[in-house]
Amino acid sequence: MNQMVDLVIFGGTGDLSTRKLLPALYQLHRHGLAAQLQRIIATGRSEMSSDAFREAAKTSLRQVLDPSQWDESIWQGFQDCLYYVKLEASNETDYQQLKALLDQAQAPVRLFYLATLPSLYGSICQHLQRAAAVSKSSRVVLEKPLGHDLASCRSINEQVAAVFNEDSTFRIDHYLGKETVQNLFAVRFGNPLLHPVWKNSFIDNVQITVAEDIGVEGRGSYYAQTGALRDMVQNHLLQVLSIVAMEPPASLNPADIRDEKMKVLRCLETIDASNVKARTVRGRYDAGAVGGQAVKGFLEEAEYKDAKATETFVALKATINNWRWAGVPFYLRTGKRLSRRYSEIVLEFKKQPFSLFANDPNELTNKLVIRLQPDETISLHTLNKKPGLTRSLRLQPVELHLTDDPNSESQSYDAYERLLLDAINGDQTLFMRRDEVETAWRWIDSIIAAWEETAMPITPYNSGTMGPSAATALTARDNRSWYE
Ligand SMILES: NC(=O)c1ccc[n+]([C@@H]2O[C@H](COP(=O)([O-])OP(=O)(O)OC[C@H]3O[C@@H](n4cnc5c(N)ncnc54)[C@H](OP(=O)(O)O)[C@@H]3O)[C@@H](O)[C@H]2O)c1
Repeated sequence: MNQMVDLVIFGGTGDLSTRKLLPALYQLHRHGLAAQLQRIIATGRSEMSSDAFREAAKTSLRQVLDPSQWDESIWQGFQDCLYYVKLEASNETDYQQLKALLDQAQAPVRLFYLATLPSLYGSICQHLQRAAAVSKSSRVVLEKPLGHDLASCRSINEQVAAVFNEDSTFRIDHYLGKETVQNLFAVRFGNPLLHPVWKNSFIDNVQITVAEDIGVEGRGSYYAQTGALRDMVQNHLLQVLSIVAMEPPASLNPADIRDEKMKVLRCLETIDASNVKARTVRGRYDAGAVGGQAVKGFLEEAEYKDAKATETFVALKATINNWRWAGVPFYLRTGKRLSRRYSEIVLEFKKQPFSLFANDPNELTNKLVIRLQPDETISLHTLNKKPGLTRSLRLQPVELHLTDDPNSESQSYDAYERLLLDAINGDQTLFMRRDEVETAWRWIDSIIAAWEETAMPITPYNSGTMGPSAATALTARDNRSWYE
């Protein structure tokens, strides 16, 4: 039987909580999936009563949710679970107030969700322990970014580990909560048709694109100290890469899946000063137009003196040195103010040895296209006969869709709903283990050190394009091109 859970959100008044966590919790409640969730206790620094917090939550939920999802009677039930406690992360007395509220109901499981500054994670955990608010069955959820390099990530992990053991620590990467990422397990390991071709003898290259059309949007100062490599590649892109490339796990248990993802990360060939110029591209958006609107360049937006040293776009060629993937480039790219918002994984199969067909200079290839955003779909791009009475047999591309209607109710949940539900149930499968995150940082740190050592330039690109031309050259040098 599932145990009752009290969820405490540190940063309960922040953007993430308002836009993602509370709406996801409301949806779980609406679908009857969070019966064991006893209370949701939001914390923030302002003085506020629980009633005032409920009013604010109602207003923001009504703005975020589709009107069809709003139900006053559901809200009444949901608001009864909501509480607010004023808490300044460094104030001992505030933790005593929180502890007193927690003790009132004595839920067997306390789930502490840290949706606030990562620099506070260690101190929050220590204070919780000092206030005797943590028991063996307590869990902690950590939001990204976990540090800005390996050393800072280790430091956070160590401080958290002094209070919570690894089995109770849930590191979020919301990409892992996407239906299509989980569907990758089903597609890869459920289909005897695909399993034999998922390797270097059949796959020519893999591409992972996470493209955003927005700029830094008021986060200029944070972003200027982070950049695209740390902000997106270290977590989302490497997590997706490790799932695409992992070996079949011994079981679907969290430990077995995470062991296999970890092996992939360990096999990533190091990018250092010897190969960084051939393997990576850094870009920064200039002014331009996105969706017909004129937009400013990054340097005009980022109020930070060292913004010139920050990339808003990165493309790179990763290689995985193991038997399955030797010789297969994994091209990764991500950036801001690109022509459109989408995230996609493309596995491009090798070409035929030669072509029999009149209109095919052997350029048309089979591809498996896994779309994560804005819609979540998987399609197999194949070729068949162009219909008609022409004398020569001609090919045309066709797409086989392997997913349900993306608008169907079964697919239309947010990644945070999945991840919150798993954290409530204590399932770590879709969360990152400490060694995964640290290994990813080690790989990223080497690239950053190589950029510094070689004074790697940042190439400007116009907003509304797909990044600098050097990114096109990255694949073109290998006689390949980005799938767009
Ligand atoms: N926003 C997103 O879409 C998003 C996505 C992925 C990850 N994240 C991560 O999630 C975390 C929160 O992001 P956010 O965008 O929600 O930030 P935010 O809007 O700035 O909110 C920060 C929250 O932390 C609280 N807080 C700040 N300093 C505090 C302190 N000293 N003691 C106690 N509480 C304190 C704030 O309380 P007050 O309101 O009372 O000041 C607020 O509730 C960050 O680690 C961020 O990187 C955010």
